[in-house]
Amino acid sequence: MTSQSRVLSGIQPTGDSMQLGNYLGAVRNWVSMQDGYEAYYCVVDLHSITIEAPEPALLRQRTRIVAAQLLAAGLDPERCTLFVQSHRPEHTQLSWVLECITGFGEANRMTQFKDKSAKSGVDRQGVGLFTYPILQAADILLYQANYVPVGEDQRQHLELTRDLAQRFNAKYGQTFTVPDAFIGTSAAKILDLQDPSAKMSKSRPDAGTIYLADDPAAITRKIKRAVTDADGDIRYDPETKPGLSNLLAIHAAMTGTTPAKVEAGFAGQGYGQLKAAVADSVVAFAQPFASRTRELLEDPAELDRILARGAERARALAGPTLADTYDKVGFLAPAVG
Ligand code: TYM
Repeated sequence: MTSQSRVLSGIQPTGDSMQLGNYLGAVRNWVSMQDGYEAYYCVVDLHSITIEAPEPALLRQRTRIVAAQLLAAGLDPERCTLFVQSHRPEHTQLSWVLECITGFGEANRMTQFKDKSAKSGVDRQGVGLFTYPILQAADILLYQANYVPVGEDQRQHLELTRDLAQRFNAKYGQTFTVPDAFIGTSAAKILDLQDPSAKMSKSRPDAGTIYLADDPAAITRKIKRAVTDADGDIRYDPETKPGLSNLLAIHAAMTGTTPAKVEAGFAGQGYGQLKAAVADSVVAFAQPFASRTRELLEDPAELDRILARGAERARALAGPTLADTYDKVGFLAPAVG
């Protein structure tokens, strides 16, 4: 038997659709990593209630929507394990142990917590938002993952995961694989179309965020209204021309090339022409993607079966890692029989 490297990643079922940044920064790599890696992908519903828990029926619906979108994007349940985080209790069980070896100050340095709590203030946040990165570490370490394909915004959470794995291993002996983040290049941080100083995100106003479920007219409108700059020069320079460079990066990612080649291809043309081409490339992907998603959602029972099989396969790795961890910590095992 050959031993393959393992990948694990997760996506939250927030909102009614993934946004373009989720796809280009992460999910696209998940699809390609199904071949050549043993791949585990997780809809992280536990994480999705850390800001504001939606209506229960809506959360269930969103969990199925993300699962359907991941399949529509190209995940194949025969080649990867797709499951829902809350189906595997080991995630929260390991998270507790990791919380107990995480420093308060260490958790407090997580910039995503600071950003997300900035709006309403730290005192009004649930503690779950604070411990979010520790649950994420548990998601990863349970599966002994070697690589974690994510966008640039997750780099710090991956550093924490590595630190926790190393700390536990140093104290109790080799238990966890220390994972590496797998972060792409130009599409690892897709920017908001209206405010290129911020990353594209579901928590930002609609006009700057492309949802993969948007209809072609909405996608085209958002891209045509994207904020650029006044010099009229099509040049990839993320520092001084973030808005324009973001469009080049999107087009490059959608058409399987590099921003430099897109730049060369548009030499002498105007922003209007570039924007029209970017819109076409996104619509060419989003349209068939949306109809495939709708088809999959027509059979929720089949989706649920795929997810149940995934959770069963996930148990084969998560169960032994948790048992080993609990044993190392010294929790008394329940007597058998
Ligand atoms: P989530 O659902 O917020 O994001 C899912 C993935 O999309 C990436 N992403 C982006 N990439 C590029 N440009 C953007 N504008 C952009 N916006 C989002 C994120 O980096 C992420 O890879 N904390 C994770 C969820 C998680 C997880 C895990 C990931 C929970 N447990 C274990 C990996 C392993 C998150 O940000 O989800």
